[in-house]
Order: sequence, then C-alpha cells, then structure tokens
Amino acid sequence: MVFSEVAPFAKTGGLADVGGALPLALSNLGCQVRIVMPFYNRFVEEFAGADPVVENLPVELGSQVINTDIYRGQLNDTVEVYFIRRDEFFDRTYLYGTPKGDYFDNFQRFTYFCKAALSLCPAVQFQPDIIHCHDWQSGLIPAYLKHLVAAEDYLAATASMFTIHNIAYQGQFAAKLFPQTGLPGRFFSMDGMEFWGGINFVKAAIVCADVITTVSPRYSEEIQTKEYGHKLEGVLQMHRRKLHGIINGVNYEEWNPENDRYIAANYSRENLEGKHMCKLDLLRTVKLPERLMNRPLIGVVSRLADQKGFDLLAAVMDKFMAYDLGLAILGVGEDKYHTMLTALAERYPEKIAVRLEFDERLAHKIEAGADMFLMPSQYEPCGLNQMYSLRYGTVPIVRATGGLYDTITPFNPTKGEGVGFRFTNYKPESFWDATKKALDLFSQTETWRQIMKNGMAMDFSWQSSAQQYLKLYEKTVAEKKRAGGSPATERGTGKKKTGDARQRDKA
Ligand code: ADP
Ligand code: GLC
Repeated sequence: MVFSEVAPFAKTGGLADVGGALPLALSNLGCQVRIVMPFYNRFVEEFAGADPVVENLPVELGSQVINTDIYRGQLNDTVEVYFIRRDEFFDRTYLYGTPKGDYFDNFQRFTYFCKAALSLCPAVQFQPDIIHCHDWQSGLIPAYLKHLVAAEDYLAATASMFTIHNIAYQGQFAAKLFPQTGLPGRFFSMDGMEFWGGINFVKAAIVCADVITTVSPRYSEEIQTKEYGHKLEGVLQMHRRKLHGIINGVNYEEWNPENDRYIAANYSRENLEGKHMCKLDLLRTVKLPERLMNRPLIGVVSRLADQKGFDLLAAVMDKFMAYDLGLAILGVGEDKYHTMLTALAERYPEKIAVRLEFDERLAHKIEAGADMFLMPSQYEPCGLNQMYSLRYGTVPIVRATGGLYDTITPFNPTKGEGVGFRFTNYKPESFWDATKKALDLFSQTETWRQIMKNGMAMDFSWQSSAQQYLKLYEKTVAEKKRAGGSPATERGTGKKKTGDARQRDKA
C-alpha cells in the first residue's frame, strides 16, 4: 500500500484514516500488507521506534541519483510501515502546501516518492502480488510498473490497483517536467499522461493501473460525468470496466463513544447519559455559553476547501442565527475560508465558535458533544465524518452526493426509519430546508432520540470493505498470471531481455 498520509503518523484528512485502518483490516483477513509513506520529520516523535533499515538506496529522479534512507516502523504488530526519508523533500511544516497554495516542488517530491517506493521492494526483499496506490501522490507507480519494469525485473509479476479518494486533486504539472519522470516519450500523449498540454499523475494511473477503485459506489458513477469528473470523465468512461466503487469503513477502535479516550464521558446506544456531559464539555472547551445546552448545537470538522460547501454555510448563516442555535467549527485549509469563518465568529460570538487548527481531540469532542453534524459538500467521494457522527448519535445533515448519498438514508417520520437529513440541489434554500426539518424535529424529544438510535445502530466497520478489496486483488492477480504476467501491460512477453531495459524503454 502506498500512501502519502497514514494515521497516526501524518494526517490532513480522511485519506490518512483509510491508510491507518484498511491495512489492518486486510491483515486480519490474512493478507501480508506493508505500507510505504514519506518520512515527514515534523511528526518525528510519532515515528519513535522506526529504525533505518536501508541506507543510501539510489533513486533516480531525472538525471539525478538521490540517495535515500528507508526507516521501518509498525502500524501494529503485524503491519510494517516503510518511511522514505529525504529531508529536503519531506521535512516541511505541511504535507502538500501552505494555506496559500501547493509547494513549488510537488512534482519532484512525489515523482521521487513513487520511484523510491518501487526501489525499496528489492532492497527489503518484498515482492508484492499487488501494489495498491492511493491518490495522485502515488499515481506514477502504475505507469512505472507498466512502462519501465522489464520482464526480468523484481516487480515484473506485480499488479497495480489505484484508488481515487478525490478526483479533484490530480497532480497536474507543466509538460516541460515530463522528461524527469523517466517514462518513455510516447507516454506523453492523449492515451498516456498528457492532459490539456500538461501532465497529470491521476490520468497516468487511470490509464496504467490494472484495476481502479474509488471510495463509494455513487462516486464511481459521478466521476464519469462532466459535473464531477474534473475533466477526467472521458478517460474514466473509457476505462470504466476496470473501475469499482467500494465504500470506506470506520475504525471503531478510534471512533466509538463507548471507549473514546478524548471525550468527557463515554456513552452508548443503550445509555445516552454521557452525551449530555459531552455537550457541556464541548461548550466549555470552545467557550460558548452554557445556555446553549437547551438549544441545538451543530458541529463541523472539515478541511477548509471548496469541496466542503462553506459557501452554502455562509449563505444561510443569518437564518441559522435567527433560529438560535450554537455552531462549533473546527478546520484548517485555504486562507479565504479562515478569513470568512473568523468574520462569522466575530459577528456572532455568543453562538459561533471557530477553531482554525488541526486538533484530533477537539474533533472527537465535537463528534460527541454536538447534536447535529453538517456536511453540505459540493462533492464527497466518501466522507468519514458522517459515519463517525452516526455512531456518536450526532445526526448528520448532508448533501446527497458520493458517499454521503450512499451512507445517509433520510429520516422518514411515517416509518420511523432513516438516520439523517439530506438535500440534493447545491443551493442555500435546499440546504436550509433540510436543516430546518432537522431543527423542527429536534424539539420532539422522542422522535429525535429515535433518529439518533437508528444511526447508532449502523455498522460501517472495515471488514466488509476489506473483503471487497481482497476479492478484487485476487481477481486482478489471477488475471495477470493468466495473461502471462501482464494483462494491461506491455511487459512479460516471455522473451528474456538483455541490457538495461529501462534505458531501452526510455529511448
Ligand atoms: P476529507 O478526507 O475530504 O477531508 P473525510 O470526512 O473523509 O474528509 O475525513 C476527514 C478526516 O479528517 C476525519 O477524520 C476528520 O475528523 C479529520 N479532520 C478534518 N479536519 C480536521 C481538523 N481541523 N482537526 C482534526 N481532525 C480533522
Ligand atoms: C478524500 C475525500 C473523502 C474521503 C477520503 C478517504 O479526502 O475527500 O470524501 O472520505 O478521501 O477516502
């Protein structure tokens, strides 16, 4: 598994949650999983216990050869993690960029990362059946496996899976950087990684991976449309036969009010008493008045990015405030949202608390202490917070898109079924209508309790998703074997090549 972030080592969003949980679930199913990720020095304390296992491993980047140290740590007793260490690339304050924008050298950083991830396999003597890559940061790996690895190479029989966690982040760079990838010149073409005159890591992965997945069935359909495809819809349609949607799971060891170590009191579906204490604790923590104990308290925990629907939230804020409720928002991201949220909190200091930081503990406190949770996302490949909210009895109000659509069934008052509230049109009125429905039902204590309990009974544990991944791995690996080691690739002709096949391919 190749990830650019894995909880608890480094995290900006849900990708890290998946990185920290899916490998464990697969390992429980009997897979031998090893993870590769960058060594971000900023988080070095958490890496305690990670020892260098390979020193000065040569990794090619364009005409340079970069000496690389590999550290090995453990995610748990069974899953090993390899950290790729090169401080000039990964010893930074942020993972991918500052609130002002991406780091200028992300192309070099993650091209190098992909190369290093492959180079480390022979160095640590691990020959995987399949390399499972996640998002653009590992997008070149399927291309390298297809175009640079020769039949006699260590990874010649290795298949590749690419998971799209978010099609909006594609790893797009200027065409002039293409030669530094080391990929053959013909790969800079319409059926390769060329994209509107530049290069695109996700396109490279879609074209080259043996199998592609995304993180919910609904999103796998959506990204094939113009509205959601971010200009890759045509390529995805072309490759749709190898595209599958598998919903993410929840790591209930981390996200469960029964044993959550960060919250003021534990509680369960059978005994909700502690939730009251959690609400009081949240109000105190974010310095909102305790009179809000009797009003709906709404929580938001989110990356502050266009995807997450903060423009809708701003548009309905006056209506929210007229209703008299509390709002606790935790997030970091783009500067423009920092400014917007700070202004809102200044305008309504008695009702809105905003924390512009990354705070794991507060994220848990919000899940436990809020009555409702907002995710009015423009798009949402899967979304984890709505599933966490369900388990905490914190009723989600979501836009019906991607994984939010797949996981949140709307409450039906006649049947007493359903777990949340959702709206379809990305319009302030629709968002407000859904929220208003929730607010009206909040005062009907019995009904509200029913909605909470319906959600708390849902089970999104990783096991069934991991089984689906395992099935796909097995199918892909079997197909590759049947095709003589290369269903979707140009290698494995059976002819023994001599000399440096990489050089020949490049030429
Ligand atoms: P995305 O991956 O698009 O950010 P998800 O809902 O899949 O959205 O996952 C977000 C994850 O990141 C959750 O675990 C959430 O609690 C966490 N998170 C987001 N922002 C913050 C923050 N400011 N502080 C702490 N945790 C955060
Ligand atoms: C992305 C998506 C989010 C998803 C997460 C994990 O960051 O935005 O919807 O839950 O990846 O797959």
